[in-house]
Amino acid sequence: MLRIAVHGASGFTGRLTVAEVRRRGFTPVLVGREESRLRKAAVEAGAEGAEVRVAGLDSVEALAEAFRDCAVVVNCAGPFTVLGEPVIRASIAAGVHYVDTTGEQLYLKRVLDGFHEDAVRAGVSVVPAMADDGGPGDLIAALVAERAGSSAASGAFGASAASGASVASGVSGASAVSVAEVLVADLRGPGAASRGTARSMAAVFGQEALAYTDGVWHPADESAGPASIAVPGESGEAQVSGMALPGVVTIPRHVRARRVRSVIRSEIAAMFAALTPEVVDSVPETPDEAARMASRWLMLAEATGLDGSRARGWVTGSDGYGMTAVIAVEGARRLVAGGAPAGTLTPAQAFDPAGFLDHLTTHGVTWQVASA
Ligand SMILES: NC(=O)c1ccc[n+]([C@@H]2O[C@H](COP(=O)([O-])OP(=O)(O)OC[C@H]3O[C@@H](n4cnc5c(N)ncnc54)[C@H](OP(=O)(O)O)[C@@H]3O)[C@@H](O)[C@H]2O)c1
Repeated sequence: MLRIAVHGASGFTGRLTVAEVRRRGFTPVLVGREESRLRKAAVEAGAEGAEVRVAGLDSVEALAEAFRDCAVVVNCAGPFTVLGEPVIRASIAAGVHYVDTTGEQLYLKRVLDGFHEDAVRAGVSVVPAMADDGGPGDLIAALVAERAGSSAASGAFGASAASGASVASGVSGASAVSVAEVLVADLRGPGAASRGTARSMAAVFGQEALAYTDGVWHPADESAGPASIAVPGESGEAQVSGMALPGVVTIPRHVRARRVRSVIRSEIAAMFAALTPEVVDSVPETPDEAARMASRWLMLAEATGLDGSRARGWVTGSDGYGMTAVIAVEGARRLVAGGAPAGTLTPAQAFDPAGFLDHLTTHGVTWQVASA
């Protein structure tokens, strides 16, 4: 039976993930810093009697020991910017595949840049951002770029790095197409968010959002993006603002794009900008169940080919937190089943994009890609 270690199992996303592991017929092992909270979470997740292992972030060795006889780790403990790296070190030390639910852009870049060689040496795949934004956003962008782009054998768009910028080291993946531009947009409206999400957004507040131009990641120019965007299923256009989404970091690793940018609805950007510690504390730990089930998420990608041809695609569904658990567990299962190379990978590098999105349609997700 597939044993999946869920780190941060006592949190909101962690409990949903444990429940999803059980629903799939796999064996969850709940890992975290506090035994009583882990046992309570097991009961709440419908996994009473599941194995609980206590290990804190202060000992990579203890964490690795907790992971060792599992096939894969799903890390749900955020803010990842603060908590994430010891868990990756421990997964690699234990020789166990790793996925997480982060949406934090700079953390994601640090992981993809910094842990690749160690993961290759250990023979494990490390796939962060397997949540309802970074996962579907990267997968739909791969398919949209493929539609708009042309295949290119080699040659990333190179440029000299300005100070504070970093250069892309290579592009690999199923598509590896060339396009002029990719725009990725998280177009969910205001709705159910957990305190953990608010805390994670507050933790990265003040960090510069990145954009990607001619082979270089650099601070985003907030005024450069579109001011509004047509939202599938809505009349009119929604006001959008630049935001540090995972796609800016993940997409250039498998699409040869001259430019990659990311936006969200301006009203959501304004809410994030207003997150003081007091506001974070006032957010319910667990969002209202009915509001969560009713809330919709929508990731959209647009690509412009080198010849000016355009493509647009989107993926949408309900209950973003439940979907995050589905995405993370299915990603974990696919890593164990084999096929993904060792190393740090974006979702679209690790998994067949259309195949993965098709899997999500069994959970009410719809997706499409079309020439524009
Ligand atoms: N991008 C997306 O689309 C998306 C979707 C879903 C979730 N997420 C991310 O997933 C993360 C979890 O969200 P959530 O709502 O589940 O948060 P949460 O309910 O606050 O859970 C946080 C978890 O982290 C653990 N933790 C906190 N500090 C720790 C420490 N110092 N050492 C060890 N463990 C520690 C907590 O353990 P204790 O119980 O012991 O405190 C708990 O298990 C957030 O970063 C959120 O942004 C992202």
